Amino acid sequence: MIESVEAYTKAVNEAASYIKDKIGESEIPSICVVLGSGLAPLADICDVDVKLPYSDIPNFPESTVAGHSGHLIIGTLEGKRVFLMSGRFHYYEGYDTSLCTFYIRVMCRLGVKTIYFTNAAGGIADGMKPAELMIITDHLSFYCESPLRGPNLDEFGPRFPDQSHLYDVEYINLLEKIAKENGITVHKGVYAFSRGPQYETPAEIRGLKVLGASAVGMSTVPEAIIASHCGIRIAAVSCISNLAAGISDKPLCHEEVIENAAKASNDSCNLARLFIKSL
Ligand code: HPA
Repeated sequence: MIESVEAYTKAVNEAASYIKDKIGESEIPSICVVLGSGLAPLADICDVDVKLPYSDIPNFPESTVAGHSGHLIIGTLEGKRVFLMSGRFHYYEGYDTSLCTFYIRVMCRLGVKTIYFTNAAGGIADGMKPAELMIITDHLSFYCESPLRGPNLDEFGPRFPDQSHLYDVEYINLLEKIAKENGITVHKGVYAFSRGPQYETPAEIRGLKVLGASAVGMSTVPEAIIASHCGIRIAAVSCISNLAAGISDKPLCHEEVIENAAKASNDSCNLARLFIKSL
């Protein structure tokens, strides 16, 4: 939880100044892409100017998850200046949600206007298959400690922010159009936050389904709440990396998640790339 507005704001400013200095004279990107599972190859098609280890950025937490390398990349992709977040911070790693979302406010400070989140998620809705994609249209944050808890950072956004259109409707339509034109199978649906790190029980998944969840995962929701709080437009796409607990008989494991995210990687990267191109 944020204890002191002054200290938190100072920490955001320090991180933003450090990044700005590293960018130098080049244009500061207004787009940020968060590379979830399967999206790492996007960095390979980016014309990279600067790659900053998170550990060098003042006040950034360190990403501890295997497979999430922890770098901020600044470069050009499809002619657009971009920040690529390679590695993110999860609640289950032990950070509280205000720390998981610290980087979002740094992005806001740097002038980011659009953020593209990707993640891996367990499919709940009927008809979803592993290695397919889902455009997030809304979320369930019930199990997520609010990253806005504590004193409000008034200079970023209001105390009681509206959550009616967290995921930008124009972006949802654009993603759907791009997917259709390029033969990428996409679902649209509601992403439910799970604190993790344990996967859900079948009973929990049945409950989430009744509540309207289409997929479940352990990231994105705290970040989307903060991005929306500070006025950044959000696009978000899940890779259905497995069927959620009890939807199939198969026990869940991290290896399956990685394997299906890799299978979906081409589609995930193409959708992200074409989305950026069309902005
Ligand atoms: N549950 C929660 N998080 C996940 C899952 C899941 O089934 N798959 C990938 N991330």
